[in-house]
Amino acid sequence: MNRLEKYGPPVILNLLALLPLAWLAWDIALGHLSVNPIQDIQIRTGRTAIIMLVVSLAGTPLYRLLGYRWLRLMRRLAGLYGFGYAALHFLNFIGVDYRFNLDYLRADALDKRYAIAGLAALICLLPVAVTSTRGWQRRLGRRWRYWHWLVYPAALLAVTHFFWQAKIDVSLPMVFAALIILLLLLRLPFFRRMTAGLKSRPDTDG
Ligand code: HEM
Repeated sequence: MNRLEKYGPPVILNLLALLPLAWLAWDIALGHLSVNPIQDIQIRTGRTAIIMLVVSLAGTPLYRLLGYRWLRLMRRLAGLYGFGYAALHFLNFIGVDYRFNLDYLRADALDKRYAIAGLAALICLLPVAVTSTRGWQRRLGRRWRYWHWLVYPAALLAVTHFFWQAKIDVSLPMVFAALIILLLLLRLPFFRRMTAGLKSRPDTDG
């Protein structure tokens, strides 16, 4: 494997995942957000987080289908960045919007069903993010895969949160729900066998 093959995919994938953050920072610095910048940040970090989760879930079926090694890296990085953006989203909510005022938070927001679903999604993603390093993968062995299944309930909870916080238009949450359900179905043995049959490239994985 030459240097381009080794370092190209991680550099490109990291840059792509950081792009929404750089774009948001740029818009904040230049005052390009709307009259409600806190809500803008909430929406943009939330959408990026859920997109990353979907990309992460798509990694395994795409890898099984196409066999490119970088798809496995994409799955791991997207899951990690998904957690990162969700953490920013949460921090913006409790820190910037509610100024860490726990009494106000408890009275006003934390008992709302959309907030509970969002928090549950974030909690599911925490062990996935912490154990995403190669060291943890080695240490946990087979159990590592079971821990990483938490990304599925996390995605389902995140999309439920997306539905519940939507005021009128639920078309975007519907699109994400359809994608997540499809990606979940693709992990069932029947569909796994089907995608294995469609495989166009031999495994390039070592
Ligand atoms: C994995 C965790 C989470 C994900 C993926 C996520 C994702 C999202 C998404 C996609 C939206 C909709 C953005 C839009 O309107 O298009 C949203 C909105 C929102 N989320 Fe989350 N969220 C998560 C966790 C949380 C948590 C823990 C909280 C706070 C307790 C929270 C608070 C909010 C609020 C207040 C909004 C409404 C923004 C608005 O329209 O005013 N989220 N979230």
